[in-house]
Order: sequence, then structure tokens, then C-alpha cells
Amino acid sequence: MSSATMSLPSPSEIKEKLQTLYTQEQIDEQVSRVAKEILNDYKDTDGLFAVPVLKGAFMFAADLLKKLDSITIETEFIRVSSYGTSTKSSGSITAHNITLPDLTDKDVLIIEDIVDTGRTADWLLKFFTNMCGARSVKLASLFDKPCRRLENLKEIKPDYSCFEVDDKFIIGYGLDYQQQFRQLPYIAYVDNL
Ligand code: IMP
Ligand code: MG
Repeated sequence: MSSATMSLPSPSEIKEKLQTLYTQEQIDEQVSRVAKEILNDYKDTDGLFAVPVLKGAFMFAADLLKKLDSITIETEFIRVSSYGTSTKSSGSITAHNITLPDLTDKDVLIIEDIVDTGRTADWLLKFFTNMCGARSVKLASLFDKPCRRLENLKEIKPDYSCFEVDDKFIIGYGLDYQQQFRQLPYIAYVDNL
């Protein structure tokens, strides 16, 4: 059977097989490290504009932004999707009702959950660079999965990243499997998913 016709396990089947990849403590350590890098890079900026990307980045963004409390930040959420309910990217990006203020003289920091094929990151970076007139655009991602990057998007790399992972489908701390498990406070994976 081809992978396109194989049926995926249900979330309740998955639940039994979750293995911890990173604990809450390990996540906190890496988020703190990235927060320090961002604080250092943006210490002289008066116009930092954070854009957490819903839904997957909600938990990472909340923890990261709390650690950036010593600088002035304007925050606006956007929602884009590229996954349906499967574990493979659908190939097209859907942006939902994006309304943003004028970003002239703003330094945009996109906050993502994971850079996988690179399609979403590529779309977001182009959108903020070409359409919104921002002064600078950078990307902070909880995960980077470089082994999955499309051949033509090899140059896409987060400016800040907490963890690099190999070809595993990961779940928890905002990341979902069929819209479930986002609430897990740790990161898990399932073998052979
Ligand atoms: P892209 O393929 O780089 O465009 O990634 C698109 C989106 O797919 C990410 O922002 C995630 O929301 C989702 N995604 C990619 N890999 C995983 C994963 O391992 N677990 C959960 N979601 C993922
Ligand atoms: Mg995402």
C-alpha cells in the first residue's frame, strides 16, 4: 500500500505510544538560551514586532515572550496552516485573516513551532519582507528539521532555534497530531509515524 492510501493511527492509538523526546526542563533551558540571544541582538531596538504563528507556536511564544520582558515588544498573532490532519505537508499555505499595522521601521520576529519542508517559513519571510515594509525580518523556531527541507528551500534556516531534530513527527508543547496533544507540557514522538 502506498503511503497516500495507508490510514493513519487515531490519536487514542498514538497516546499509548508516546515517547518523551524533551522534558519541560530541557525545553525551558533551550527557550532561555534563545531568549538571551534575542535580548542581545535586539537590545538597541525600539520597534520589535513579534508575530507568533498559530496554532503550533502558541506555547513556545508564551514562554519565550515572558523571558523578553526587559525590552519593548508589540505582539500580533497570525494564523497559517499547511497541514491537514495528516503528518505530511499539504504543499499549499493557507493564511487566515491577516490584519497587521504598518510595519515600517519595525523589526519583525516571526515565532514558529517548526521549520519542516520550509514552505511556511519561506512564505512568511517573503510576506513580511515584501508586503509589509518591515525594517528587518527574522525567524525564531522551536524546532528545525533540516533533513526534511525541500531542495529549493535549503537556504531557509531559522535565525534562532531551540532544537534540531531528525525525521521524527513530534507532538506536544503546541505541536499537534490531528489537532490533539497541543497541551502536553513536554515534547514527545511516536516511532514510525
Ligand atoms: P513546513 O513543512 O516547514 O511548511 O511546516 C509546516 C507546519 O507543519 C509547521 O509549522 C507545523 O505546524 C507542521 N509540522 C511540521 N512538522 C511537524 C511535526 O513533526 N509535528 C507537528 N507539526 C509539524
Ligand atoms: Mg506552524
